[in-house]
Amino acid sequence: MSGHGTITVSSPHRTTTASFPARTSAAGFLPPGSPDPATTGPDPATTGPDPASTGPDPASRSAQIESELRRAPRSFRILTGDRPTGPLHLGHYFGTLQNRVRFQQLGADVLVLVADYQVITDRDAGPGLGADVLGLVADNLAAGLDPARATIFAHSQVSALNQLMLPFLSLLSVAEVGRNPTVKEEFSASGGGAMSALLFTYPVHQAADILACRANLVPVGKDQLPHVELTRTIARRFNQRYSPRCGFFQPPDPLLGAVPLLLGLDGQKMSKSRGNTIPLSATEDETARLIKGARTDRQRHISYEPAGRPEVANLVLLAAMCQRRPPAAVAAEIGSGGAAGLKAVVTEAVNEHLRPIRARRRELAADRPYLQAVLRRGNDRAAVLAGDTLNSVRELMRMTY
Ligand code: TRP
Repeated sequence: MSGHGTITVSSPHRTTTASFPARTSAAGFLPPGSPDPATTGPDPATTGPDPASTGPDPASRSAQIESELRRAPRSFRILTGDRPTGPLHLGHYFGTLQNRVRFQQLGADVLVLVADYQVITDRDAGPGLGADVLGLVADNLAAGLDPARATIFAHSQVSALNQLMLPFLSLLSVAEVGRNPTVKEEFSASGGGAMSALLFTYPVHQAADILACRANLVPVGKDQLPHVELTRTIARRFNQRYSPRCGFFQPPDPLLGAVPLLLGLDGQKMSKSRGNTIPLSATEDETARLIKGARTDRQRHISYEPAGRPEVANLVLLAAMCQRRPPAAVAAEIGSGGAAGLKAVVTEAVNEHLRPIRARRRELAADRPYLQAVLRRGNDRAAVLAGDTLNSVRELMRMTY
């Protein structure tokens, strides 16, 4: 901060959350029977003037991007990422993994980040970190990512990426970094104590992930939108200050999925810490046991009514996603089979759908050197991308001596 009590930022701050209408969807692919976002157009309930410079709101922009993706997949470099905090579960699978594979099959350049530095924002990395990192690589490969085409990397292994954090921090004020609603939520969920400075600044680090790779598309759930918005702000400010003529960084677009949110087996938000998930790596028996314990209601007749019967509807939806059928058809077939009938169908559907994925995951998990080789290769490619970016950034900042 300067002696005059001001901090210089080269463009006016804009709030991030207010411009994003609430949506019930998370990043993901389309479940059977849902409307195609590329053809249905903007949702009148969520479309409104965007006070920011992003143009249409993220939901309708996402529909546009989906059709651009189909038309010109090779013009997209897509970055997604997960924190290595344990095995991925069905929510990740339907929410993001399947989408990654779809982007890869379309022909886009897909990068998957193992966000190991983000683990230490609110907990100790712990001795299991290495296993969790390779477990994430295995989950992605088992779901269908092709290591010859996709790039899987860990950000702790890519020095140039992390160095970008410094110029990026200089473009932001403490106040605007502190306004991020997702950071606040993660802090309160972490159970108090003092907020680490890394948790405070991790969205800036995430901007470094995205911009180091020069990704132009970031598939996200709603909670990650503020981070992509901050990334756009950083890109624009960097351009204004250091590269006004050529606009070095392209502000990336977020891509919101249109999949209805899968709830956990207790009907609450799905999350590993609540113990209400089905891990991809669970056995068929464990899966049966988990589904047996799922919450339902007393009505014998099974129907698909997400608003009125959320727990039952969620199980129906899960079976429908596995079988790629409309949820109403799944419910009609179970009819008056009651909760037991429903759970039998869901268990069978999940186990059947995951069988080949699990078999492949078991093989991969037994081959640690292979997983390490895939990761090393991804790290190397990410290092080339980030190194090029950092070199250009240094030149633009006149830090070449
Ligand atoms: N913050 C993301 C999460 O918690 C993970 C992540 C880190 C990420 N860097 C990213 C996602 C870059 C997309 C792009 O899930």
